[in-house]
Amino acid sequence: MRKHLLAASMLYLLLANCTKDKIHVETTLDRSLTQALNKASITNDKNHFILPESDDFTTIPQDKTHNPLTKAKVELGKLLFYETGIALSPTKNAGQKTYSCASCHVPSAGFRPGSVQGIADGGIGFGVNGENRSKLAAYREEEMDVQGVRPLSVLNVAFVENTTWNGRFGSAGVNIGTEDRWEVDPALHINEAGFAALESQNIEGLEVHRMEITEEVLDNYGYRPYFDAAFGKTGVAERYSKTNAAFAISAYLRTLLTNEAPFQSYLKGELNAMTPQEKRGALVFFTDAKCFHCHKEKNLGANDFYALGVNDLYQTGLAFNTSAEDQRNLGRGEYSGQEIDNYKFKIPQLYNLADAPFYFHGSSKTTLTEVVDYFNEAIPENPNVPKEQIARQFQPLQLTPQQIVDLTAFLETGLRDPNLERYVPEQVLSGFCFPNNDIFSQLDLGCGE
Ligand code: HEC
Ligand code: HEC
Repeated sequence: MRKHLLAASMLYLLLANCTKDKIHVETTLDRSLTQALNKASITNDKNHFILPESDDFTTIPQDKTHNPLTKAKVELGKLLFYETGIALSPTKNAGQKTYSCASCHVPSAGFRPGSVQGIADGGIGFGVNGENRSKLAAYREEEMDVQGVRPLSVLNVAFVENTTWNGRFGSAGVNIGTEDRWEVDPALHINEAGFAALESQNIEGLEVHRMEITEEVLDNYGYRPYFDAAFGKTGVAERYSKTNAAFAISAYLRTLLTNEAPFQSYLKGELNAMTPQEKRGALVFFTDAKCFHCHKEKNLGANDFYALGVNDLYQTGLAFNTSAEDQRNLGRGEYSGQEIDNYKFKIPQLYNLADAPFYFHGSSKTTLTEVVDYFNEAIPENPNVPKEQIARQFQPLQLTPQQIVDLTAFLETGLRDPNLERYVPEQVLSGFCFPNNDIFSQLDLGCGE
């Protein structure tokens, strides 16, 4: 009798300890998650999802033929991306030297804008995270540098094979066999050079966003030695070109990897890097919610195009110079000219989404819970998108309230690299304020006189 009691109480103690012992519970969760990750990965190995280190110039995808990665290029690109002093071709004088690439790709906003739409030339103000940027009075809407889609993040862009929401840049990937389309849009002649998409897009980007590399930039600000260090092998006549500026920026952008996100540390073996809730959310992402069917590449994006029937940017009522007629609303169809591609948009990467509250190509959602609900309910919100275009996979998921909360936590914090400041320079060579340098932004950003 006594013996039994003792055995029973020992068993009780053991069990009580077990349930209290979180490590045991997490190990089960870790094991399920590892299994799910291996299974969900296109290589059957969870290591597929590990992003390279930012100085791993052999592993980071790059255009080895035209623009091999070097430290000197990354250093130059890291300055030019923020340099408001190259904003030298504004539509109006008031815009001179007031904007940069980072006006629309704000680092603290996850390299997206801090508002529904990116505004560079013709914009004024910043706020804390880009949320207060608006139209400069001197500009008419059509004179502003704004687009009819929300800027994509440039995080993890090394893994994007065809850039923009409709994938129009790049001669490889999904654009093989679409060469005739490069004739239709003069901006796309650049694809004929055979550069990687990122290099092509950034050459075009310096044009579109009204930027110049001039003697003033090279000699007054002091960029000439940086070009010499990065492009010393190029003849002096071509060394200081806009193409090389774009190449340097491309090299820098390729190093913008969210390799310090909790999910990344977890994949690399730090099992406590994610909370149990984030792990449960990851499990939902890689199993029941089927997110990985589409968000499957290393950056959790993919080079495929689908219609989810989300609203366009004009439908927010908050965007400049866009409308129901904006060709960008057609997504991949705008590029291909094929009806079958209409309303289909590229699958974007999913890191640091919590840094700015605007989601989908038309900024139609303002919280990640809303995004998860949208996928869970699978009811297209945009009446302009014909039913037959909507992705077959866009079906109600029947997730439980707990699964929704967990999945949201995974997106919000599990996939958030908390240290993106490491990618931002202390200052740019001109000494000007950045990412914007208009008088209101100077005040907002606390820049000197
Ligand atoms: C006025 C706002 C604005 C400015 C300034 C701007 N961008 Fe963008 N960027 C966008 C928008 C909008 C998109 C998406 C365009 C589309 O899908 O058609 C984009 C897309 C990109 C992409 C593609 C990302 C992907 O995953 O496909 C890259 C790369 C990029 N920008 C780099 C730059 C660089 C480099 C500069 C400076 C030369 C720059 N951007 C300046 C608004 C801007
Ligand atoms: C059928 C393929 C597909 C599936 C499945 C899918 N997505 Fe997406 N996802 C996309 C596409 C395409 C977009 C861009 C749509 C647009 O803006 O028009 C997108 C956009 C997003 C965005 C917005 C990112 C941004 O930068 O605005 C988030 C967040 C997201 N998906 C999360 C998820 C989650 C979570 C799941 C699983 C519940 C999921 N996705 C399932 C294709 C898919």
